[in-house]
Amino acid sequence: MTYPEAVEWLAERANLKLPEDFESAEYKEIKQLKEKIHNANKEAAKFYFQTLFSPAGAEALQYLLKRGLTEQTIKTFGMGFSPNSWSLPQYMEKKGYDKSTLKKAGLCGYDDDSGKAYDFFSGRVMVPIIDSFGNVIGFGGRVLKDTGFAKYKNTLANPVFDKSRSLFNINLFKKLKQSETVQSAILVEGYMDTISLYQAGIKNVVAPMGTSLTLDQCRMLKRYVDLVFVCFDGDSAGQAATMRSLELLKSSGLEVKVMELPDKMDPDDVIKKKGTEVFEALITKALPLIDYKLKKTEGGHSLSSADGRQKYVKAAAEVLSKLDAVEREVYARTVSEKSGIAIATVLSEAAGVTDDALSQPPKARPKETKTRKGSINAARYVLSALMNMKGYVKLQYIKPDFFDDEAHQAVYGYFVECVNNRIQPKISDLFDLTEDREEINEIIEAVDKVAPEKQAEYYLQCITFLFNDYKKELTHELMKRLSQAKSQKEISELKEKIKELTNSQPI
Ligand code: UTP
Ligand code: MN
Repeated sequence: MTYPEAVEWLAERANLKLPEDFESAEYKEIKQLKEKIHNANKEAAKFYFQTLFSPAGAEALQYLLKRGLTEQTIKTFGMGFSPNSWSLPQYMEKKGYDKSTLKKAGLCGYDDDSGKAYDFFSGRVMVPIIDSFGNVIGFGGRVLKDTGFAKYKNTLANPVFDKSRSLFNINLFKKLKQSETVQSAILVEGYMDTISLYQAGIKNVVAPMGTSLTLDQCRMLKRYVDLVFVCFDGDSAGQAATMRSLELLKSSGLEVKVMELPDKMDPDDVIKKKGTEVFEALITKALPLIDYKLKKTEGGHSLSSADGRQKYVKAAAEVLSKLDAVEREVYARTVSEKSGIAIATVLSEAAGVTDDALSQPPKARPKETKTRKGSINAARYVLSALMNMKGYVKLQYIKPDFFDDEAHQAVYGYFVECVNNRIQPKISDLFDLTEDREEINEIIEAVDKVAPEKQAEYYLQCITFLFNDYKKELTHELMKRLSQAKSQKEISELKEKIKELTNSQPI
């Protein structure tokens, strides 16, 4: 809630009247827009839901039932189906929603020339995302078959939807909390994990939506519980990203316990393949954060060698250095027993740790200058078009030097490797390439932000932008070398290169 929204909400609860001029014109406008988007989302959710249970939704319904969801669960979560690109816009316009609202809500896109509308989620199984006040703020849409396309599409950021400030299932979580004692939350990674656990009777479950956890999300949880069980996938891509999420939860005042899932399994798999009891046993066996960290430390070093033991103790000392005196003593004993190194030595090592590498915030991104921002956006778009197999992409014009962001380099490298090995690139693989899930999401979504008929042209602009940037930098570099060149041969070679570069074209 924004500040005025909070004031308004509290005033209504307390049955107080706000002064007439309380709302500025600007605030009123935003408030109305938000309301319109909420209503449009709700209506769209209704349409998707009805469609799922109509003949047009038969295949999608079959898919969900085959995945083990019951009709009751599907109804509880208000899941639905988008049958094609035209039905939703037709339905919504008949209900009186204007184009501008539907566009702002991220539900429909419009062809610039013909003005023809299309459903942003066409062909996908729909999961509404509902906030704690019961507003439908957005959707996640899943493909029915795993092709190369993004498995899930999420509503793009808009005045009511900000992924980094929302948690999936927080609405039912809040309801649960109102009807019974809920002491803890289980934090999983995906929509399906959440839905599957809920169906199995483990209802205190929430999930972020493909981005790594934020402070806002941690605080949201802290409003309801003091203990969080973190239950990320068994192959949890970025271990360091997981660690950061854990630290963030802890720094929000939450007690954190970490569940360990069998290799390559996600919570949904565990419920389905091993059963609810096994999952519940894993909850019981969840490790307190410190134990988990020490265990991770141990994992990297062989305790049977002197060198391994020494490294383990040094790494463990870092973990210990952040504990209070009592905790430190308790855990120093464990470390001492494991390594065979005297407890006093372990303690003094821990006392000597100054720089705490683990709790350091992630590396700040390079400062965003105007050109840098431009080149980031251009690079995102090019990679997005590449991964989405757009027909207008020609790989030979994309130079590795176009990308200086780590995630961008990783995506480009992945794509080239797939091409070289004749493997179909999969968008879902991108999440395993880097810890920077936010950037991966930005890349995946970039093509959706440009109207289809404008994409080819926009793509060319991006390529040109990146090319010119690259050309400028390389020329600069060559000039510098020229000014320092000693031999005549070197000078003429460099001059030739510069000339070549000056005449070169992006395509
Ligand atoms: P997962 O790939 O683990 O999805 O991504 P899942 O929930 O287990 O889905 P199923 O079982 O394959 O259907 C975890 C979460 O990351 C986000 C979604 O929020 C998803 O639930 N995600 C994943 C995306 O936003 N886009 C993607 O393409 C993939
Ligand atoms: Mn899954």
